[in-house]
Amino acid sequence: MKTKDISMIAMMIAIIIVLGMIPPIPLGFIPVPIVLQNLGVMLAGIVLGAKKGGLAIALFLTLVAMGMPFLTGGSGGFSVFLGPTVGYLIGWFVSAILIGLGRSKFMETKNWGIKFLIVAIPGVLLVDLLGSIGLSIVTGMSLSASIVSNLVFIPGDTLKVILVIIIAERLLKIMNRTER
Ligand code: BTN
Repeated sequence: MKTKDISMIAMMIAIIIVLGMIPPIPLGFIPVPIVLQNLGVMLAGIVLGAKKGGLAIALFLTLVAMGMPFLTGGSGGFSVFLGPTVGYLIGWFVSAILIGLGRSKFMETKNWGIKFLIVAIPGVLLVDLLGSIGLSIVTGMSLSASIVSNLVFIPGDTLKVILVIIIAERLLKIMNRTER
């Protein structure tokens, strides 16, 4: 791996950590807050591609598992992987890889709808679905109630996808220019 790749991975991890410093919005009816960190996860996938994006999220989650307080609100430690947000954390890893697989299509198309789907299907639908499954298993809530409660994340997560597309287009342009 090139030095440039390592610095890009480190930069994306740093962005995800900084986004975790933005306070969460707790929801009274489920033990899962609204956060901004998932924006960084989607961005890592589209900017770094499948391999490096997946690696960045795996490293980030390893640091969290080791006890670093890098999740939103300063949580960390292995116990978070036994808690109600475990499904989202697994989803973050899988979604970064899947979004990364769509990177070349994302770069070649000018169609906003396609760009949106490349990021939103794994980054929002899959993450919220895996999150709902984890939430249901850990809390004992029914899966259908868990899925319905997760609809609350859709408007905010959709907005994050739009921001990810805007930021990624700029970053990818800069990266292309410096590669030449
Ligand atoms: C954690 O800090 O333990 C993970 C929080 C996961 C929150 C999920 S990510 C997808 C959905 N959108 C949000 O804003 N919150 C949830």
